[in-house]
Amino acid sequence: MTIKFQNTYQRAFKLKIAEYLGINAKNIFLFWKGRVALYAILKAIGIKKGDEVILPAFTCVATVNPIIYLSAKPIYVDIDPKTYNLDPNKIEEKITPKTKAILAQNTFGLSADLEHILEIAKKYDLFVIEDCAHGFGGFYKGKPNGTIADAAFFSTQWNKPFSTGLGGIAVTKRKELAEKLNVLENDFAEPSLKDKITLNFLIFIKKHFFNTNTYWFALKTYRWLSKYNLILGSSQGEELEAPVKPEDFEKVFSTVQARKGIEELKKIGDLVFHRKNIAELYKAILKKFGIEPPHEPIYAEHTYLKFPLLVKNRYFFFKKAEKEKIELGDWFISPIHPITENLQYWHYKWGENFIAEKISGHIINLPTHSQIDQSYVHKIEDFLRRNQSNIYSSYRELL
Ligand SMILES: Cc1ncc(COP(=O)(O)O)c(C=O)c1O
Repeated sequence: MTIKFQNTYQRAFKLKIAEYLGINAKNIFLFWKGRVALYAILKAIGIKKGDEVILPAFTCVATVNPIIYLSAKPIYVDIDPKTYNLDPNKIEEKITPKTKAILAQNTFGLSADLEHILEIAKKYDLFVIEDCAHGFGGFYKGKPNGTIADAAFFSTQWNKPFSTGLGGIAVTKRKELAEKLNVLENDFAEPSLKDKITLNFLIFIKKHFFNTNTYWFALKTYRWLSKYNLILGSSQGEELEAPVKPEDFEKVFSTVQARKGIEELKKIGDLVFHRKNIAELYKAILKKFGIEPPHEPIYAEHTYLKFPLLVKNRYFFFKKAEKEKIELGDWFISPIHPITENLQYWHYKWGENFIAEKISGHIINLPTHSQIDQSYVHKIEDFLRRNQSNIYSSYRELL
């Protein structure tokens, strides 16, 4: 396999990722975003017009779009309300002769029930791709997320386990897929100078001006600017209107991202440790309030990129939080976050996935990132206490 000329930073970044995951750097491929890495994997697998790809009905539009860009059809499977991941018991009923792959997402940093999924895939001769956009640093039965299935991708976008602003990493242990991904990595375009300058600028702004006080303003401003393509958004405006591939979609990872990635990877152990510690504090708070904590199956190590909670009236909960400058997340507000209209453009039929639809109407997330400390957790505890009547005690109360 001929390896594309890459500058020192991309190569060094690949080596660091390889070391962390315990795999060969030749099996790692770098792209502009996680969704581009997924698109490359689907292409390498040979996904084409008419094929079907199974994925959870509780995901992000960025995962669905690459399937449709290749003229294949996303087939949504309902989730397990305990894990927010694909319910393996509901996969087989959605398999048809056209099914080619299953996308197993690590929602909020919790690996899907992979052994069960791999068993089904073997029976029907399907590829399994781990969607590790939320799962870098987590483990499934002692193995690092991303190293278990045929292929996997990670996202290094702003609020992912470690961030390079934007970024996507594809990995595979299959030689034939690695060869094809290598060709795609060679073929995809280098980001423009404008892309690189803008990304560098945004990384600077995030580092120096983003904090829990500026959260709501920054989030709303960033999403608004992205929607109208006035900034380098994680989703360009057109990606949210219909699944039509943006013209400059096929791009690789830039030096800006690789440099940032090398720096961030040095901290990954601490970042994951911190999130898990903050999650422990939240679990203790929920226990006091008689609210069931998130389920932690024995097969996986949850890294809590987000800490989920189910509320009765999300609109009021968010309004109050914004007023009091309490940072809360909104993953996922719809089965295809953040799409709430025209879901049929993404081949989604409302009413098909009862659990995912219910949960996406009521979920919020508590933050676990590195700026959240004990005093901020106390602030959140106080907020939750005052709004306890608006919180479900468990998913069973909602369903
Ligand atoms: C579950 C999931 N998969 C994939 C992606 C795509 O990642 P990226 O934004 O790097 O394209 C996201 C983005 O937030 C996500 O939440």
